[in-house]
Amino acid sequence: MTITFHLNGVEVSLPDIEPTTTLLDWLREDRGLTGTKEGCNEGDCGACTVMVSDDSSARALNACILFLPQLHGKSVRTVEGAAAPDGRLHPVQRAMVDLHGSQCGFCTPGFVMSMITAHTNGARDHDDQLAGNLCRCTGYAPIIRAAEAARSAPIPDWIKADRPFIFSEIPRGEVADRGAEPPSARSAADLPGATVPTSTPLRPTSSDALAAAYAARPTATLIAGATDVGLWVTKQLRDLDDVIFLDGCTDLKDITVTDSEVRIGAMADMNRVRAALEPLHASYAEMIRRYASQQVRAAATIGGNIANGSPIGDNPPALIALRARLHLRHGDTRRQIPLEDFFIDYGKQDRAPGEFVEAVSFDRQPDSLRVYKLSKRFDQDISAVLGAFNVTVVNGAVTAAAIAYGGMAGIPKRATHVEAALIGQPWTDTTLAAAQGQLDKDFAPMSDMRASATYRMETARNMLARYFADLNGAAEHVLEVAQ
Ligand SMILES: Cc1cc2nc3c(=O)[nH]c(=O)nc-3n(C[C@H](O)[C@H](O)[C@H](O)COP(=O)(O)OP(=O)(O)OC[C@H]3O[C@@H](n4cnc5c(N)ncnc54)[C@H](O)[C@@H]3O)c2cc1C
Ligand code: FES
Ligand code: FES
Repeated sequence: MTITFHLNGVEVSLPDIEPTTTLLDWLREDRGLTGTKEGCNEGDCGACTVMVSDDSSARALNACILFLPQLHGKSVRTVEGAAAPDGRLHPVQRAMVDLHGSQCGFCTPGFVMSMITAHTNGARDHDDQLAGNLCRCTGYAPIIRAAEAARSAPIPDWIKADRPFIFSEIPRGEVADRGAEPPSARSAADLPGATVPTSTPLRPTSSDALAAAYAARPTATLIAGATDVGLWVTKQLRDLDDVIFLDGCTDLKDITVTDSEVRIGAMADMNRVRAALEPLHASYAEMIRRYASQQVRAAATIGGNIANGSPIGDNPPALIALRARLHLRHGDTRRQIPLEDFFIDYGKQDRAPGEFVEAVSFDRQPDSLRVYKLSKRFDQDISAVLGAFNVTVVNGAVTAAAIAYGGMAGIPKRATHVEAALIGQPWTDTTLAAAQGQLDKDFAPMSDMRASATYRMETARNMLARYFADLNGAAEHVLEVAQ
């Protein structure tokens, strides 16, 4: 297994690595590049942020939950590569110095790499871009001022040089397992999705190749963005004997919007999902702005968020309220099921060994969807309760309703009694009150560190009231308080 990537302008080839070695450990322990810091080692603090570029994007990612095979064919910039080889500072670094954006300096490399990535992408929503970086001493105002000061400076040549290198130099094809005959990486790159090699690849490059590899090794752990699996390794110290990385399957990243349907490939990351949904279902897209942080959204995939079966994943309730269909594949056999049927019980999903999520889709529809996320912090926090509401009102009466909650049961679940109390009724306060009264037939939530059962029930009721007000045209926004 040879992993090849570009590190701060220099090609690196790693012929024999443990597939679950994190970039952070390798940088610090193998390369002595200790500028990239370890804070939480679970994706929460941003101290380990690096910039990873490929042929489609430059992304700020947390090196602590990024495995080396995920870098194959890409370019990595750490803080040691932020300045020019002759020592000239990147405009973001210059601004951080000039505007006093650093005190103890522990968080600074992570901030600088998030800011350089945002600068490279021309992003100006600095609060959102930096929500995944924690600073304990400077305070955020000087850092934001530095980001603003640097934003109109041109992208330095040494940063621009990463992308042509990716196109011309780095093999991007399949990577074979240790012990297997490695296919020619360059020829595989020339033939994306080509014939599956006889060896089962560690990093297949198409859905077809993944289907063959996973059918042959149904006990392997699939790794998509690694924002869950990364923590199994760094926090639970699990040994993952056999892994298959999905990030090379470019066809699983497609998002297609037609007149009749929206289809989102399993490997679409949350930033891309947010951009695609913004014109269609703005409330869903706004919720994704609060999904973890920029670094996690750039890695986390919609397929991983569904397949992990979590009762507090943010996408499933929203997709269930859109009446989404899940597309599953085993070898050459495909099937589709209503997404809500995928979640059978806590920790149990309708997925056979060797079967994987290929995509999720839903019909184009008028936008009456609203998605409300309640968490202790605004950014970078897992939901205590998430409510997704999609009610159709025609001539003052409810003709259809799909309502789903996360955090209220062991699985993301529809509120069928609430829906039944709404359908066929006039869209009035009385109907709303009757529907709210049905919630305890649908859910008996638990108490945990995020919320008590009582608080969850009350919140779920209030979300329904908020939806009623929202659909009736009340101006409401989570960042504004109405008089
Ligand atoms: C700091 C932090 C903050 C977070 N905040 C949020 C949040 O606000 N909201 C939220 O919902 N989640 C949050 N998460 C959880 C995580 O980001 C999501 O669950 C994420 O979508 C998982 O996707 P992934 O691509 O990283 O999956 P991975 O970690 O790669 O995989 C997760 C699971 O899904 C399986 N899998 C992945 N892809 C497929 C596939 N195509 N077919 C079958 N199985 C597959 C894997 O084998 C594994 O069991 C957070 C995580 C971190 C670290
Ligand atoms: S060390 Fe905290 S996000 Fe990586
Ligand atoms: S400068 Fe000390 S943590 Fe940010």
